[in-house]
Amino acid sequence: LRGDQVIVVSNREPYIHEHGPDGIVVKRPASGLVTAVEPVMRACSGTWIAHGSGSADRDVVDRADRVGVPPGHQDYQLRRIWLTPEEEQGYYYGFANEGMWPLCHVAHVRPVFRESDWEAYKQVNQRFADAVVAEARSEDPVVLVQDYHFALLPAMIRAKLPQATILTFWHIPWPNPESFGICPWRREILQGMLGSTILGFHTRFHCKNFMETVDRYLEARIEDEHSTISFQDKETLVESYPISIEWPDEAVAAAWPPIAECRRRVSERLQLPAVVRLAVGIDRFDYTKGIIERLNAVERMLEKAPEWIGRFVFVQVAAPTRAALDEYRSFQERVERITERINSRFSRPGYQPIHLLAQHHEPEAVNELFRAADICVVTSLHDGMNLVCKEFVAARDDQQGVLVLSRFAGAAREMTEALIVNPYHVEETADALLRAALMPAAEQRERMASLRSTVREFNVFRWAGRMLSDAGRWRLRARVEAR
Ligand code: G6P
Repeated sequence: LRGDQVIVVSNREPYIHEHGPDGIVVKRPASGLVTAVEPVMRACSGTWIAHGSGSADRDVVDRADRVGVPPGHQDYQLRRIWLTPEEEQGYYYGFANEGMWPLCHVAHVRPVFRESDWEAYKQVNQRFADAVVAEARSEDPVVLVQDYHFALLPAMIRAKLPQATILTFWHIPWPNPESFGICPWRREILQGMLGSTILGFHTRFHCKNFMETVDRYLEARIEDEHSTISFQDKETLVESYPISIEWPDEAVAAAWPPIAECRRRVSERLQLPAVVRLAVGIDRFDYTKGIIERLNAVERMLEKAPEWIGRFVFVQVAAPTRAALDEYRSFQERVERITERINSRFSRPGYQPIHLLAQHHEPEAVNELFRAADICVVTSLHDGMNLVCKEFVAARDDQQGVLVLSRFAGAAREMTEALIVNPYHVEETADALLRAALMPAAEQRERMASLRSTVREFNVFRWAGRMLSDAGRWRLRARVEAR
């Protein structure tokens, strides 16, 4: 693909400019998608089109709504799209996050489908398609479409740029045909996605669900052997590409504060008692992350093994997210209530078992917590991949620390040396926490070393590289066939 133009489209932007008390500050959002795609864009350059959501976003762009990022390096262009409050409400909050998000996660939150949200979703998809066409410098750019906000975009781009290579990556799960079938616009969504040259999911299982869904609701030809779908004379390759993180190189890791220093800072900040096992959870405040199940497991652990009262602390960072939606606000309130209840049960003078930090943390602060912790807990009820567990492992160059990981996160398929749990099973999760708290250093080292070598090898450049080289082969074939 050398020399070809790469355009990424996602809803969330990789850098958010905000007005602060001392001028403009740049924030990094809490988004698995951004964590993964950003290093790839720094390496390929090109243009990233996204919703401009920061209070100072308009103040830093040029006349074409572009700003070079990362700040100070300007490896690629960020082209911002401004959405009206009505568009944001219908397309982002409504259809994407009240419809598609619960629909695909099957997280026992009922998807909501409103006609007006669907109209906004179509309209905003069209606006992003127009931006892609406006940014394209040739008839055949490589366009990387990201996630469930843009199911209609591939076919819209294809209509204007028939030669484009469109790689769509779905960062969240794909449900089975029955679950997906409740979406009133299931056919339109599927047709939109089949505008892609390549359609990527995290796991084979999601690919299989998608192919079965298409088989159920569209007149398409499915080739299981080649993992392709032919629809209206166009072929789409459906493939699994497990996403990952950028592995920190030596220079990056050398700049981190030592483990003991991280532990000291965190203990001081949270006023933790001296001899303590520290467990952390880092999530957005999202009902798919299993935060309540995790708190229940901490409670059960302290009930079962009261010798840990006073010696085990669980820190949950929960970054507020999509808080304009009732479902998210009431979830946050429930988590706060449960935390208070457990704390009032087990607190002692100078000790509180759960610290709930309901704030956004920048990547450096998250890294400090990872390095300070003995245990990292990821208990998603359903997650496409989950990158928190991979970031934890990357942060532990001391080869210590235990990962407790949900079997319902895509990551569980690769990260088999973690303590794998069913988060719906409180007893099992509590037992895993106990086992983690007691795990000897040698066993931690053995498991961590193996986890680290997996993530180091299957890093995000491997993810992007596989997708792009598959795309390269398809482009070559298309050029040969066109002759
Ligand atoms: C998940 C989604 C991303 C999204 C992120 C943060 O990782 O797959 O598309 O960016 O959550 O959510 P937000 O709604 O704040 O962008």
